[in-house]
Amino acid sequence: MNVLFEQIDRVVIAKLNRPNALNALNTETMYELITALKKYDKSPSVGCFVITGNENIFCAGADIKEMATKNFSQMFQEDFFGYWEVFSKIKTPIIAPVSGYALGGGCELAMMCDIILASESAIFGQPEIKLGVIPGIGGTQRLTSLIGKSKAMDIILSGRNIDVNEAENIGLVSKILPLKNFSKEVLNYAEKISNYSKTALIASKESINQSLECSLKDGIVFERRIFHALFNTSDQKEGMNAFLEKRSANFN
Ligand code: CAA
Repeated sequence: MNVLFEQIDRVVIAKLNRPNALNALNTETMYELITALKKYDKSPSVGCFVITGNENIFCAGADIKEMATKNFSQMFQEDFFGYWEVFSKIKTPIIAPVSGYALGGGCELAMMCDIILASESAIFGQPEIKLGVIPGIGGTQRLTSLIGKSKAMDIILSGRNIDVNEAENIGLVSKILPLKNFSKEVLNYAEKISNYSKTALIASKESINQSLECSLKDGIVFERRIFHALFNTSDQKEGMNAFLEKRSANFN
């Protein structure tokens, strides 16, 4: 098993499990991860995913041993990395807790998630330039969109690692959490999200992601239409009634 899955209440934790390869992402791992996420994504009893490594390593990138001998025709015909596009269609919120290295495809995996929670030991980077290639799972696009052209050029062209404070300053990381009790803090954070209305979570994620694809004017209309549509859900009634009745909302 390259990925271990565990469900705790409404949170599904996917733990990368290739310690001898520093959790490098080979094709098998990609399929295992995405196939399971697609299944859980449809379950009303799952409100949040956590994709994690271990305390020492999040993920050292795509598997260099798997790629090293491939030629252009093979990569092109296999549409190598193409299946990662399915990952970006997952509707349920995904948290990436990063402790230790998140390099290359590891950094790209974290960026494909919705929230990056980093421990004090997290180190990010896109070192592909050192291997004679470029990022191939969206790194040039997502990093640029997250932190801007100048910083993305600096990180990708130099191949340098960035520490957690720099990652937070440039907007790559959502939040830094202490290494002590990191897993517990991450779970608390994920559980809080997972207990909100799944429909509203999906709607929030879709609307935020839409902002990256369209003009502000179109995005505002998109948001308002979804906002209106949520008034046809029992979760909206529950959420607003709970506020008025001074009690906690129960969405699930
Ligand atoms: N792919 C395959 N195996 C990897 C790997 C990777 N990305 N990263 C590490 N490993 C393997 C090593 O080959 C080594 O295996 P062996 O024991 O069989 O030799 C084992 O994991 C331990 O690695 P190190 O001895 O190198 O560990 P370290 O603690 O000295 O260094 C590290 C850690 C700095 C993360 C270093 O392993 C490293 O630089 N890894 C490669 C990082 C990288 O270049 N990532 C980008 C990959 S390409 C990519 O991701 C393309 C893309 O856009 C998706």
